[in-house]
Amino acid sequence: MCNIKLLHFFKMLSKSIVLNIILNSIRQTFSVVEDISAGCGVINFKVNRKLLVQKMLEPFGKEEDVKFGLTSELFNTLKRGTTLVEYSSPNIAKKFHAGHLRSTIIGNFIANLKQSLGNNVIRMNYLGDWGMQFGLLGAGFGQFGCQEKLKQNPLQHLFEVYVQVNKEAEHNEDMKQAARDFFRQLEQHESEAVSLWQQFREITVDEYQHIYKRLGVHFDIYSGESFHQDQAQEVVQQLQSQGLLKTSEKGTGVVDLSPAGDMSSVCTVLRSDGTTLYITRDLAAAIDRKAKYHFDEMIYVTDKSQENHFHQLFHILLAMGHSWADRCKHVPFGLVRGMKTRSGEVVFLEDVLDEARARMLHNMSQSKSKEMDNTEDTAEKVGISALIVQDFKGPLLSDYTFDWDRMLQAQGDTGVFLQYTHARLCRSVLLKITKLYLAGGVSIFALCDLYSYDEVLYQSAQDLQPKHLVNFLLKLCHLIASAHRELPVKGSSQVVAQARLRLFSGACSVLANGMRILGITPVDKM
Ligand code: ARG
Repeated sequence: MCNIKLLHFFKMLSKSIVLNIILNSIRQTFSVVEDISAGCGVINFKVNRKLLVQKMLEPFGKEEDVKFGLTSELFNTLKRGTTLVEYSSPNIAKKFHAGHLRSTIIGNFIANLKQSLGNNVIRMNYLGDWGMQFGLLGAGFGQFGCQEKLKQNPLQHLFEVYVQVNKEAEHNEDMKQAARDFFRQLEQHESEAVSLWQQFREITVDEYQHIYKRLGVHFDIYSGESFHQDQAQEVVQQLQSQGLLKTSEKGTGVVDLSPAGDMSSVCTVLRSDGTTLYITRDLAAAIDRKAKYHFDEMIYVTDKSQENHFHQLFHILLAMGHSWADRCKHVPFGLVRGMKTRSGEVVFLEDVLDEARARMLHNMSQSKSKEMDNTEDTAEKVGISALIVQDFKGPLLSDYTFDWDRMLQAQGDTGVFLQYTHARLCRSVLLKITKLYLAGGVSIFALCDLYSYDEVLYQSAQDLQPKHLVNFLLKLCHLIASAHRELPVKGSSQVVAQARLRLFSGACSVLANGMRILGITPVDKM
């Protein structure tokens, strides 16, 4: 058990674990500290390494007993409650852009993280399912649409119609008028228009759900802008009665956001024709969510171009007297450049997922490993891990350039490397668990309680950035790789072998748990 390399590995895994044990040891006066001396302004502790390693292994329980992120004292300081996370939120019929993939995976990470820290999490998708584009789409469908194609490939067909009608409306006044008429019919709940719109919405949501399933993402609630059209008008009335609504020179309804009240910074909440806007529906949606779900905090995940929108939203809510708006937060992220598939520019999320799977399958078929599991399912999971890790490595606010080759490398800091390390640990360690339980007195899963993992989760909970966790897991995988070389199990004495196996199993558990929080499904074979 007195193994310096093993101890070194422990130390690298956790800065504080060693210190904690030493400090506790001093408090409890047990003999981990053999000698204390002072000189040149420092205090030196001589530590009994064998005992220290023993102490480190001692308190660990079974995997089921370990609640990651909830064990250390640090976590008692975190507030817990109901967190509503709103993410993904694509616009029906409009082109999917990389931002929606980012919002989907970032929001999923935040929801997983909050849940793992003991919060009650509500996952919400707020669809862009209302607005003038539905006037265009409805009017355009009459001219360019085809029910048959709509059933076969809804997203593709709606998108084609949308592109065509937009082109037409550029020079054709009648088309523009038809779009306005259709949207008015929708706003007035006329049944024919509403049922066509409903059809668009339902089939698109079905299609999206299929993609979310592939990504391992789910939502508790599918909401949308359309849910709040009537409430948005009520919000305008409230603003009016609170004296917060002013009429601009153009005849629009605006809220003055400048502290001095000099109309230098205004936010439009009502068009001159009396229709509401994106922000008006967001005001109504926030108030409605608070009343329905009693959240303690609400998190919105969108690209950074909407920073000002959310700033204004929270500001108006506060001005209306909704003090809980202080607990609403916008998590902005940067742009992805150069997301292309072999067939060209990305139009739909599904194309990106297909490409990731195909490229991964190809890479896996080139591998010499006999144990490679060449199934499409594994390729899909590993391909998605690669997308996620590439996206999560830096600060969310930074833009980054999409790079298929770099993100799919088996070595280096990629999702493929995480998966590979996990699969290797599963092969070498988990198969031996049953035997080990019988042989070892102490449960091997105890190492899950790595203090630094807790610290990383705590840090992520503070700023909601996945980079801390991703970089911790990548570092862990590098450590595991060198530990595989330097800490052999085969050929070691029984006690040393057991301690090492505990170490590997604990690392495997931490890795799998961390990957799941990131939204990655760990594979056991690849
Ligand atoms: N549908 C919007 C878009 O794609 C994102 C919605 C964000 N959420 C919100 N509550 N405004 O740009």
